[in-house]
Amino acid sequence: MLQEVVATRYVTPLREGGSLPGIVEADDLGTYVMKFIGAGQGRKTLVAEIICGRLGHRLGLRVPDLVLMQLDPVIGLSEPDEEVQDLIKASGGLNLGMDYLPGSLGFDPLAFEVGAAEAGRVVWFDALINNVDRSWRNPNMLVWHGQLWLIDHGATMIWHHNWRGAKVAAAKPYDASDHVLASFAPDIAAAAAELAPRVTEELLTEVVADVPDAWLADEPGFDGPDALRRTYVEVLLERAASIGGRITIGERTGDTPSKAPDWLTGGPRRKAVK
Ligand SMILES: Nc1ncnc2c1ncn2[C@@H]1O[C@H](COP(=O)(O)OP(=O)(O)OP(=O)(O)O)[C@@H](O)[C@H]1O
Ligand SMILES: [Mg+2]
Repeated sequence: MLQEVVATRYVTPLREGGSLPGIVEADDLGTYVMKFIGAGQGRKTLVAEIICGRLGHRLGLRVPDLVLMQLDPVIGLSEPDEEVQDLIKASGGLNLGMDYLPGSLGFDPLAFEVGAAEAGRVVWFDALINNVDRSWRNPNMLVWHGQLWLIDHGATMIWHHNWRGAKVAAAKPYDASDHVLASFAPDIAAAAAELAPRVTEELLTEVVADVPDAWLADEPGFDGPDALRRTYVEVLLERAASIGGRITIGERTGDTPSKAPDWLTGGPRRKAVK
């Protein structure tokens, strides 16, 4: 179970994020990066943050701790930015919080060396969850106390946006040519040998249990949240067994826009859903 806290103060927006995450303090005296349920990207990005964030953590990768955050929109009243105001108003109730890493720096491949073993683990993990958003354009990793931390797993598991085609989508290979760690000679074979056997049905079942029912309810074609949870488990379990052999690293693409859809990544900002 994820810990649940209550947001007590909206501190400031994080201007870099496409979904306009904010820094928020909570009643446990913690400081969190809050990902809003009312953001245009929708609740599935939060579901992906939980499943992939917790899975990464359980596999020994560094991912900031996650909490569920109760938000009373009244705490945003003094925020001057209208876009932020709208987002807070649209996000009353349960939201996602991620432990804020103070003083962390955005990962820069020219300034920080990553070993082949660690690069392999991150690339293999991103292939498993089909992360299209850890590229040299947008690394979505932080360096904190001299170590690499993984953030932003909202644009993963593309299959959960179209469950009817999920099995086919999940069977697809993973092109890591543009992955920000592609140039660090990732040892993918070693990572697959180490991590694939650890992605068990039991582990995945524990991970998906952390997603609140409310964010899994009313999914067309599913008889309730538990049926949907089981499908997440099935797809990830199947993909874990074989994805290691289907990761390709070729020439990195030129300075063209990301292939990831705008609404999933840092493209033009979408207005909050009212
Ligand atoms: N836990 C954290 N601690 C410190 N800074 C963070 C943390 N999480 C995010 N940030 C900062 O906020 C920025 C935006 O966060 P994140 O990438 O998760 O948001 P997003 O809206 O999903 O972004 P994107 O534009 O990549 O889709 C990050 O690039 C980083 O600078
Ligand atoms: Mg990001």
